[in-house]
Amino acid sequence: MAKMWIKDAVDKIGQEIDLYGWVDSRRDHGKLVFVDLRDRSAICQVVFSPASGEKIYQDAQKLRSEWVVKVSGLVKERPQGMINDKIPTGKIEIEAKGLEILNESKTPPFDLAGDGYEVSEDIRMQYRYLDLRRPRLKKNLVQRNRIIKFFRDFLEKKDFVEVETPIITKSTPEGARDYLVPSRVYPGNFYALPQSPQQYKQLLMVAGLEKYFQIARCFRDEDTRGDRQPEFTQLDLEMSFVGEEDILSLTEELYLAMVRTLYPQKQITLDENGKIPRITYQEVMEKYGSDKPDIRKDKNNPDELAFLFIVDFPMFEWSETEKRWDAVHHPFTAPKLSDGSTDKQKILEVLKKDPSGLLARQYDFVLNGCEIGGGSIRTHDPDILASVFEAMGNQPEEIKEKFGHMLEAFSYGVPPHGGIAPGIDRLVMVLEIEPNIREVIAFPKTGDGRDLMMHSPGPADEKQLKELGIQIIKKDK
Ligand code: AMO
Repeated sequence: MAKMWIKDAVDKIGQEIDLYGWVDSRRDHGKLVFVDLRDRSAICQVVFSPASGEKIYQDAQKLRSEWVVKVSGLVKERPQGMINDKIPTGKIEIEAKGLEILNESKTPPFDLAGDGYEVSEDIRMQYRYLDLRRPRLKKNLVQRNRIIKFFRDFLEKKDFVEVETPIITKSTPEGARDYLVPSRVYPGNFYALPQSPQQYKQLLMVAGLEKYFQIARCFRDEDTRGDRQPEFTQLDLEMSFVGEEDILSLTEELYLAMVRTLYPQKQITLDENGKIPRITYQEVMEKYGSDKPDIRKDKNNPDELAFLFIVDFPMFEWSETEKRWDAVHHPFTAPKLSDGSTDKQKILEVLKKDPSGLLARQYDFVLNGCEIGGGSIRTHDPDILASVFEAMGNQPEEIKEKFGHMLEAFSYGVPPHGGIAPGIDRLVMVLEIEPNIREVIAFPKTGDGRDLMMHSPGPADEKQLKELGIQIIKKDK
């Protein structure tokens, strides 16, 4: 028989049932032993007494927190006055008639009751499987799953196709460092883990998919922060034959529907037309001095959500260290003139002479002061694309080497296209009112990029290194 959820015991009053779970706590009161039994769904009180049977009663006295047990018993309504309104099973208790100890547990290295914010993060991460036993963290994972499912269902209804793109691939420019994977078969050559599926999703537009999305894992070797992880998840999407309005209104519809369905208690702050406000980069910088302002009306209200789209970013920014123009978003973003015109000849001229004043057909998506997404309409004209690469200081051979495959693909009938990639981790963090994204990821890296549970990164075997043709050079301290 399949295991029954503890939360469903409330529907079984007067019946004998079997429950499985972990001992949350045990209290002895004279002849009675009270055990709070926990599974993923709920916690429920089990009462042992000598009437449960001598052996069962004695075993119950041995129980310690986090032991794994099977309890058989009768579901009884609690007497008036003993009802606990704080938990979903508070009006019942189980009168134990059987007890099987399935596994014992050492005393956990930290208290599993409560939120756990006060426990040192290093120890929480080392024993993450225990930390995840907290209802708060379980709820975060469950909500994350619901949000992702909502996205999938919504997009599928709108004819999007989820396509998986490679994880071992080639470098794609999103502005961070790549994680490299050495090739065994081609010694001295490396794959890169994708910073995003950017190029693949554009190639899927060339392939005629028209509406693509993916719950996509991205990898960026950059310093970890409260809202940044070296690997994170995007709702990556791309559409053909669209302009900015199509992408922004789809994103708006999707996010408002998701919040209204899954977080009905939240108040969404919209503009006077009931829409997510849009503001240009110039305006936002003048007004707030930040490109991700928190525009909540009352910042003390944790259930207020203030979404915002920022549009009309500059196309390039000058990099003093590299002494070259860098794309503010990425080089595949379509440029436009400061008056909004997309005239090809004029754009080509400006790209050659002085690209500083060009705008980008880029948009950022902000929620409560957090950048939760970014995207753009792409350049689908191979001449403009090549010219953008040139403006960024790439020599013709470099362009061919790094982006030749894109230019080649774009010579076979590429549709106009654009997309967006909202980050899932940051979204769940804001919705669940968590102080950092590690709280909404099952197995995150620590602030300094380590997995303290698996001990990674760690050294590789001599044999593995030899096969890969890699020699480690120790840096002098
Ligand atoms: P971008 O680089 O702006 O765009 O990333 C999009 C969104 O991904 C999230 N994000 C992160 N979340 C957690 N940890 C990180 N290290 C991290 N880096 C980014 C943010 C961000 O807004 N390919 C383009 C999208 C496109 O043009 O369609 C891209 O990746 O929420």
